[in-house]
Amino acid sequence: MASDQREVDLIISGAAEVATPRGETARGGAALGELDITEDGALAVDGGLIVAVGRASDLRRAWRGRRELDAGGGILVPGFVDAHTHPVFAGTREEEFEMRVAGASYLEIAGAGGGIVSSVKGVRGASAEELLAALLLRLDRFLALGTTTIEAKTGYGLSPKEEMKCLEVIAAADAIHAVDLVPTFLGAHDFPLEYRDSDADRQRYVDLLVEEMIPAVAASGLARYCDVFTEAHVFNLDQTRRILGRASELGLGLRLHVDQLTPLGGAELAAELGAASADHLEYISDQGIQALGEAGVVPVLCPLVPLYLGQDKEAPGRALVKAGLAPALATDFNPGSCYTQSMGEVLTFSALRFGFSAAEALTAATLNAACSLDLGQRIGSLEPGKAADILVLDLPGHRHLTYEFGRNPVRSVVKAGAVVLGG
Ligand code: NIG
Ligand code: FE
Repeated sequence: MASDQREVDLIISGAAEVATPRGETARGGAALGELDITEDGALAVDGGLIVAVGRASDLRRAWRGRRELDAGGGILVPGFVDAHTHPVFAGTREEEFEMRVAGASYLEIAGAGGGIVSSVKGVRGASAEELLAALLLRLDRFLALGTTTIEAKTGYGLSPKEEMKCLEVIAAADAIHAVDLVPTFLGAHDFPLEYRDSDADRQRYVDLLVEEMIPAVAASGLARYCDVFTEAHVFNLDQTRRILGRASELGLGLRLHVDQLTPLGGAELAAELGAASADHLEYISDQGIQALGEAGVVPVLCPLVPLYLGQDKEAPGRALVKAGLAPALATDFNPGSCYTQSMGEVLTFSALRFGFSAAEALTAATLNAACSLDLGQRIGSLEPGKAADILVLDLPGHRHLTYEFGRNPVRSVVKAGAVVLGG
C-alpha cells in the first residue's frame, strides 16, 4: 500500500544487475572475486546515503522516490576509486611518448632532462589559478569516466612553496568539485635540479623534506598521506625510510612507489613501515609478496603503466591474489608514464595482464581502492549506510566491465546522492 512506502530522495531502477563487492575491509584471495549480484536490481538513496538495495519489485513496496532514475537495462556499480593519480600538472609530454615509441626508455628520457623535471618546470611556471583550472577540467573527465574518488598526489613542485601550492590547489578542487580528492604529499618524487650536483646535494634535499617540508605539510592538514618514489635513480631505501619515518611520526599515512623499474626490496620496506599501500610492484620479490601480506599493505596495481612505458615486466597480479593479498587498481594518471584517466581501460587490462575476472577487477577498483585510502567504511560498495556514489553503466552485465574496452559506458553518475552526470 502506498501509505506504507517511505519517501526517499532517489530511486534508481530498471537495471539488469546491481553488481557490488560487500564490506568495509579490503577483500583478498578468493574473496576478491565474490560480488553480490542482484538481477533486476534497484537502489534507494536518501540524505546522500544508500538506504536500500534489492530487487526492484521488493524495493518499490517499501520506498517511493522523490526522484527516479531509469538505468535503461544497464548495470549499477559503485563509483570507481582511483587509488593512485598525479593530477596536478601544467603542460603535457607528448614528445616523450613519441621518443619512447621510437625506442627510448623512461630512464633514458629522465636522464636527458625530461621526465618528472619537465613537469616541475610546468608547475613552477603556472599560477595556482591556472593549476586549479587544469585540475578541474581533469576532474570533469574523471567523473565522465565513472571515477568518483581519486587519490591525488603532488610531486611536480619539489620545493616548500611549490609543493604547498599544489596541496592548496588539491584542497580547492576538492571543495568545489563533485569528485572527492584524497591528498598525498609526494615531495620525494624526484630530486629537483637545484639539488642534483652531488650525493651531498641530494642528501640536503632529503634533509629539507624531513626537517622543513614534511613538518609544514603535516601542520597544514592539507595531506593525508606521504609518498616516495623509491627507485635506483631517485630515493634509495635509507632515504625513503627516513622520509616516511618522519611523516609517520607526524601523523601522515604512508604510500610508496616501489619495485617499479628495478627490484630494490621496496615492498619489504612498505611492509616494515606499515604503509597503507605499496604501488606498482612490477619487480616485487616472493619475500616482498609475503611481507606485504603479513603487514596487511594494499598493493596498488597500475596495469597500463608498463604497457605505456614499453616495459616487458608486469606486476604479478595473480600471484598476489593467490598469496591472499587484496589488490587495488589505479590509472597512475600523470603526464609522463600513463596519460589516461580511464578506470574502464584499467579494468580490461587487469584482466589481460593479470588474469583478473570482471568481479575481481571491480572489487579492486572500488572497495579495495577505497580501503587503501582508509575510506572502506564510507565508499567502495553499494550497501545501506554507505555514501551513494553510484554508476549507471550502459553494459548488459558486469562481465562486460572487462570484456569491452575503448567505449565509455558511463550513462549517469550519482555522487553523494546527487545525480551529477546524465539522468
Ligand atoms: O607513477 N613513478 C613515479 N611517478 C610516475 C611518473 C611520473 C612522471 O613521469 O611524471 C609514475 O609512474
Ligand atoms: Fe605514480
